[in-house]
Amino acid sequence: MANERTLVLCKPDAVQRGFMGQIIARFERKGLKVAGLKMLLIDEGLAARHYQEHVEKPFYPHLRDFITSSPVLAMAIEGDNAVEVVRALMGTTNPQKAQPGTIRGDFGINLTKNLVHGSDSSESAQRELALFFTDHELYEYDLTISPWLS
Ligand code: RTP
Ligand code: MG
Repeated sequence: MANERTLVLCKPDAVQRGFMGQIIARFERKGLKVAGLKMLLIDEGLAARHYQEHVEKPFYPHLRDFITSSPVLAMAIEGDNAVEVVRALMGTTNPQKAQPGTIRGDFGINLTKNLVHGSDSSESAQRELALFFTDHELYEYDLTISPWLS
């Protein structure tokens, strides 16, 4: 058992299409805890830091223009093996190939408009959470149902 936190973003298309609530609900019903939550507009500098492994790739300008186009909802999601569990709930990167039952498989449009971001490792999660949240914005608290979640 490894309790960890991961960064999830509801991307601009999720905010615009009114899926924030349904996306949060999928993490909550899986027994994951929301440790932090904020809405913000990503600027070009934050986009480049967040997507540091992609800035040199040919698709980056398109990805940057999309992710800065409208506010996002940033979430710190916590739980046992949260990085992997969140990625499974999101589904594969391309929504046209993602399994039904996943967020991207159920609601996603294409490789860009794929609704959500989730950190891909615990190292990425720590780096990305620090880009979006101060320590004071992340909350340590017990859920009363926690004995049923581990
Ligand atoms: P994310 O980072 O958003 O959680 O998605 P991911 O790990 O599943 O995918 P990643 O490889 O990290 O790519 C980040 C985002 O870049 C866009 N992308 N476009 N060939 C392309 O046009 C292309 N490849 C990736 C996607 O929006 C992906 O979510
Ligand atoms: Mg990624």
